[in-house]
Amino acid sequence: MSRDAQKKLAAEKALEFVEDGTVVGVGTGSTVAFFIDGLARLKGRIEGAVSSSEQSTRQLKGHGIPVLDLNAVGPLKLYVDGADECDPWNRLIKGGGGALTREKIIAQASERFVCIIDEAKQVELLGKFPLPIEVIPMARSLVARAIAEMDGQPVWREGAVTDNGNWILDVYNWRIQDPVGLEAKLNQIPGVVTVGLFAARAADEVIIGDRIRPRR
Ligand code: A5P
Repeated sequence: MSRDAQKKLAAEKALEFVEDGTVVGVGTGSTVAFFIDGLARLKGRIEGAVSSSEQSTRQLKGHGIPVLDLNAVGPLKLYVDGADECDPWNRLIKGGGGALTREKIIAQASERFVCIIDEAKQVELLGKFPLPIEVIPMARSLVARAIAEMDGQPVWREGAVTDNGNWILDVYNWRIQDPVGLEAKLNQIPGVVTVGLFAARAADEVIIGDRIRPRR
């Protein structure tokens, strides 16, 4: 089955988690794009969505789905998003699309985080996919030096500006043995806005194709 077909199946399966009358947290990316298309069919049954990016907001609004402010709606029942890598404990690397900060906020604000991926995103050890880190622009070099001292290879995603007006460093060459510890450590560097490791708050459910993968 093609990767796109797997993404679409996972997105359809995630629709089963949507409860009537709720506000749904919506991630970003090509897998989530399938989910938003599916959500359009349920739009009369939900109150609306909280969006993690301008890109997803445009698609949601295009379908006539109300996009709501997280501050106005409080904790969410459900957040659905894709990932760039997923380990057997449902810990993720995210941010390939640059939307990691809002994604992490919504994941944290949600009771249940359902992650939808295709098989190729499954790994034993996180880190083959370069780890995105959103930084305040003036701290780019400071953060890059700190990462280099930790044996990572930071590469500035030149020209990319996040929805929050910040920049992104992609860190190559890390085999991430302790995702929770690394996430906490990187969060301590001044100028780091968000680390694309979703380990402290991992996904509750991971759907690959049409199957919910058990957590190790
Ligand atoms: C966006 O910043 C990312 O976290 C996406 O969730 C991730 O890159 C997955 O995207 P695809 O579904 O396009 O692979």
